[in-house]
Amino acid sequence: MAGDTVFIASDHAGFGLKQALCVDLAARGFRMEDLGPQAAESCDYPVFAHALCARVAADNGRGILICGTGIGMCMAANRHRGIRAALCTNEYAARACRAHNNANVLCLGARVTAPPLAADLAELFLRTAFEGGRHARRVALIED
Ligand code: RB5
Repeated sequence: MAGDTVFIASDHAGFGLKQALCVDLAARGFRMEDLGPQAAESCDYPVFAHALCARVAADNGRGILICGTGIGMCMAANRHRGIRAALCTNEYAARACRAHNNANVLCLGARVTAPPLAADLAELFLRTAFEGGRHARRVALIED
């Protein structure tokens, strides 16, 4: 079904966490599609951010982007129309970015957030529904 797959991508700094999350989130019941990279050699995070956002937009789906801080990935992702990327470092933000902002891309910093917390943040992001209502009006105002 469209939207069921969780896309994930990283740069070299996020590679190890991406590999760990692919395994952990699959074990938690999510269907993961790894959009790379396939090795930890140095690479440019916007390339992977743009590729993932194209898939999320086409699939009306959800994605996870990981770099060292999560910042560069978030900047690149939010250049895409229809993409609402949120950099999260705690559980409140991971829940609120879905409930209030209808975020469709979660950004994580592998040099900031340890793997067990990252997996919990990702699961919260993936299981929390958008609340709609007043939040839908505000989210609609984001797009120009
Ligand atoms: C790579 O060293 C680092 O700059 C990158 O992973 C990311 O943190 C950029 O925002």
